[in-house]
Amino acid sequence: MFSGKPKTSAGQRGQVEKKQGWAPAELEDWKEKYIHENYTAALKGKGVETPCPDVYWFPLFTNVACDELVEEMENFGQWSRGDNSDNRILGGYENVPTIDIHMNQINFEREWYKFLLDFIAPITEKLYPGYYTKTQFELAFVVRYKPDEQPSLMPHHDASTFTINVALNSVGVDYEGGGCRFLRYNCSVRAPRKGWTLMHPGRLTHYHEGLPTTKGTRYIAVSFLDP
Ligand SMILES: [Fe+2]
Repeated sequence: MFSGKPKTSAGQRGQVEKKQGWAPAELEDWKEKYIHENYTAALKGKGVETPCPDVYWFPLFTNVACDELVEEMENFGQWSRGDNSDNRILGGYENVPTIDIHMNQINFEREWYKFLLDFIAPITEKLYPGYYTKTQFELAFVVRYKPDEQPSLMPHHDASTFTINVALNSVGVDYEGGGCRFLRYNCSVRAPRKGWTLMHPGRLTHYHEGLPTTKGTRYIAVSFLDP
């Protein structure tokens, strides 16, 4: 996924699309490089934590995956301004703006979709029994939080049935503060682990906020599934 270095040019775009037809051996190599070594155990229910009600937390990406995704976004560099007007989305108005780059801005949405199908859909169906995800997404993006830019995010619901929120760097190393608080349960995840994802329902019960990043830069990869 990440080593394809998809760019916006037509030639590079062709490379991205070709990757959809990965041979099984290539997929294994890809998985080894980018998927956390404990993901397979998590898929069997081992090592999945529940830090807040109906919020799951499990290892997903390797450090390499996190670093390459951040590098890709910073190289691209076209972060949104974090205000309500946003011509990237239908209607042009974002209720809860963040400073972010969408996966489709770096022509990454097809690969992201394949990643969601292969690695998120199966574990969703384990963790929320009886729910079968369509793995539909319109919004998948990387958010950047910084004290002097946008440090936090006000309470909100997500436009999703469920959300994944992957920490792409390390608290105490790359930044201080940060995390996510679920207001209904007064429950916070204050020390996100790099490469681990939170998975939580998007609406109604899981009203949540992004806690202030007080130093450094915090990155997360967020996807709204089954809007
Ligand atoms: Fe959210």
